[in-house]
Amino acid sequence: MRHILKLAIAGITLLTVAPALAADGQAIYKANCAPCHNAMKPKLGDKANWVESTIKGKGTMPPRGGHPNLSDSDIKAAVEYMETIAH
Ligand code: HEC
Repeated sequence: MRHILKLAIAGITLLTVAPALAADGQAIYKANCAPCHNAMKPKLGDKANWVESTIKGKGTMPPRGGHPNLSDSDIKAAVEYMETIAH
């Protein structure tokens, strides 16, 4: 019985946390990435390296898009949001 209760609580936590993460990615993207990336979306194909190259910087994009205060998971959330709007 206690085990089932724990599973139920874990399930509810997952359900409520997932949409919050997606919204964060959008907010982080809009605040930190959109100024450059609304005009220029990265090309698809090398998605596997996107999080890493955003953290390190690439070409004229500074590391973390010039926002050193963003954590790795912030970058990941923003890149994941970006993937949903890239074409
Ligand atoms: C100062 C402008 C600028 C900002 C701010 C910026 N980017 Fe970029 N980004 C670029 C440019 C320019 C490129 C292309 C780099 C190249 O391919 O030479 C790029 C490329 C990328 C790529 C493709 C990388 C690859 O491996 O091809 C991703 C993903 C990306 N940016 C994500 C982000 C995210 C997420 C943010 C916000 C945290 C962000 N960028 C903020 C200018 C910017």
